[in-house]
Amino acid sequence: MQTDFLVIGSGIAGLTYALKTARQFPDKKVAIITKTQADETNTKYAQGGIAGVWDEEKDSYDKHIEDTLIAGDGLCNPHIVEIVVKEGPDRIKEIIGYGAEFDKDEKGEYSLGKEGGHSENRILHHKDVTGREMERALLAQLQETPNIELINHCFVVDILTQHHLGFLVTKSTTDITCYGVYVLNLHTNKIEKILACITLLATGGAGQAYRTTTNPRIATGDGIAMVYRAKGRIENMEFIQFHPTALYEPGVSPSFLITEAVRGDGGILRNKQGEAFMERYDSRRDLAPRDIVARAIDNEMKKTGTEYVYLDCRHMDKEKFIHHFPNIYEKCLSIGIDVQQQMIPVAPAAHYSCGGIKTDEWGRTSIQHLYACGECASTGLHGANRLASNSLLEAMVFAHRCYLDSMEKIGQVSFETTIPDWNAKGTGEPKEMILITQSQKELQQIMSDYVGIVRTDVRLERAMKRLDLLFTETEDLYRSTKVSPQLCELRNLITVGYLIVKGAQFRKESRGLHFNTDHKEKSSLLQNTIL
Ligand code: FAD
Ligand code: SIN
Repeated sequence: MQTDFLVIGSGIAGLTYALKTARQFPDKKVAIITKTQADETNTKYAQGGIAGVWDEEKDSYDKHIEDTLIAGDGLCNPHIVEIVVKEGPDRIKEIIGYGAEFDKDEKGEYSLGKEGGHSENRILHHKDVTGREMERALLAQLQETPNIELINHCFVVDILTQHHLGFLVTKSTTDITCYGVYVLNLHTNKIEKILACITLLATGGAGQAYRTTTNPRIATGDGIAMVYRAKGRIENMEFIQFHPTALYEPGVSPSFLITEAVRGDGGILRNKQGEAFMERYDSRRDLAPRDIVARAIDNEMKKTGTEYVYLDCRHMDKEKFIHHFPNIYEKCLSIGIDVQQQMIPVAPAAHYSCGGIKTDEWGRTSIQHLYACGECASTGLHGANRLASNSLLEAMVFAHRCYLDSMEKIGQVSFETTIPDWNAKGTGEPKEMILITQSQKELQQIMSDYVGIVRTDVRLERAMKRLDLLFTETEDLYRSTKVSPQLCELRNLITVGYLIVKGAQFRKESRGLHFNTDHKEKSSLLQNTIL
């Protein structure tokens, strides 16, 4: 197959880019590939909303910029922060134009929520299912765009570069070029080759590297691992954001999120003794940035020997709660918790990858003709800790920027038709699929036990040794077995785990989401971790 534009991923980033390019070039072909079905994405589960300066009387770009920089703890790129904050409102208007609906108040004005680290109310939302609404609006637009082909149930295995033409490609090769991808077609179980002039990775996050995560099954860091294998640049992987308040439900995966907007509306965190402990940690209390709240909860859990703390909503107005958070209300009721009567047990869960594929201000990766945007990318916006609800915003702003840049490139690129077909020689049917499942569980255990919210040098070293063994075993399996999505995901998660540990070992300080008790101070050297 050949396509002018190839988009990997159907979340907010991939869909926004695909719609824009397809409409700009009605004669060109745009293909979107997803590994399961189109709406199974992190995007669909986004609850709280999308941040943007909307009420210009109370809010300002400067305030949103400052909040983002404070949360990012010294590592944001101020130029990128300014771009995202200033271009964001136009992108929000665009998705409203596509039909996405955000809640309004009695006066017909957008009702703006507040979350941790925000100095003003600036979160547009659709109840507590904002992502689902945005995904719905974008997918509906796809139906009206005939030159987009949506290809579900196809697993992208690797991006194609000069390596596949037999050339030696290393980290110092300056002109690594992407020619498309190898993809496992899950309908035929065959690996096919898709050639593209321009490829966009919008493959989302990697929460599945941890045992407890808010991320759905698809979030296995595939794009990040593919770029790393292709010798592209990855950065800041140590900054894994743990959401402070995932519903505590042992054995249930992924964890159900209790949006931060609940605290924005007055919810209070309490420990086992019923004490509202956040005031002991930060003057912003329950609405401090996420890294601070998650660490405080972790500390309280360790001190009191519990696996959770409580989110107290009993004092909140029932009707207002049900109006803003109907999904959370129903979910809690379904497990026997009436939020008016009982407190909600919550615990931190891996939620968001702040680092990823390094891109410039146009979403260009270090590999030619390859763009990345959305959660898989590291644009410089989040630094050491993402400000709540800045992710959907970043995805839309950068999807637009990738589109603008690729619009100029498309005329200069042609297909590389000499790429060989996939060679499956020497591989057989997998004998024991259970080995793959077990290795994935082991990986999640290692990452949760040794590379979680609080790290130490010894823990990181242990993690690396254990990952090394898993890596060797999995590479052996990969060389001898027919490729399956499960095996590829395991391989990708091990790579992501390795990159997180490597980044964490490199950073001899505590900053933002990376907290190492052997290096508690901040270093005066501000640097990204380039891997
Ligand atoms: P995704 O939406 O995750 O899409 C990834 C796509 O890539 C999927 O289509 C998948 O099939 C495809 N893909 C991946 N690998 C492959 C492969 N190998 N082959 C083929 N296809 C592949 N952010 C906010 O700003 N506000 C919020 O309120 C908010 N709430 C959140 C709540 C939850 C529970 C979660 C999990 C996240 C939340 N986030 C929120 C974060 C935000 O939702 C995500 O960062 C964002 O949606 C990511 O979008 P994306 O387009 O980059 O990727
Ligand atoms: C939430 O709703 O609390 C999640 C928001 C985010 O991850 O940005």
